[in-house]
Amino acid sequence: MVINRYTRNLIDEGNGKFNLMLVCWGPSQSSTIHDHADAHCFMKLLSGSLQEVKFEWPNTEQKEEEQEMVVRERTGLKPNQVCYINDSIGLHRVENVSHSDGAVSMHLYCPPFSSCTVFDQRTGHRMTCPVTFWTKFGQKVDPKRPKACC
Ligand code: SIN
Repeated sequence: MVINRYTRNLIDEGNGKFNLMLVCWGPSQSSTIHDHADAHCFMKLLSGSLQEVKFEWPNTEQKEEEQEMVVRERTGLKPNQVCYINDSIGLHRVENVSHSDGAVSMHLYCPPFSSCTVFDQRTGHRMTCPVTFWTKFGQKVDPKRPKACC
């Protein structure tokens, strides 16, 4: 089976207090622009190289309004570097900028969340999306799970 999205792999639920996961990124894969559902998000790069792109929250309250989202900052991450974001800092997208190499990162979300909001860069439009896992504790999750979009 061809996996065309990066995989989210849950390794610890912290007794319900946090989710710790490993994310495996194929060449050129990236997340969508998303928020963090009022949680803290720590990310440590374990291998490869990733770029974090931070965005301002769009001010498109009206559904018909369209506004290209504003990039605030791009930060290249090297192995062992850590970054942090929460909703008061803004939104982000994480990208594996390499066209040839994979990357692996470790993420801690505290408290854990089961859905977040994803954004269209061109219009600023948003949509609520379930967050799902490819594996949990080393076991493949049921393929009939709802499709994630972040
Ligand atoms: C994810 O949690 O799906 C991707 C990592 C991130 O961009 O925070």
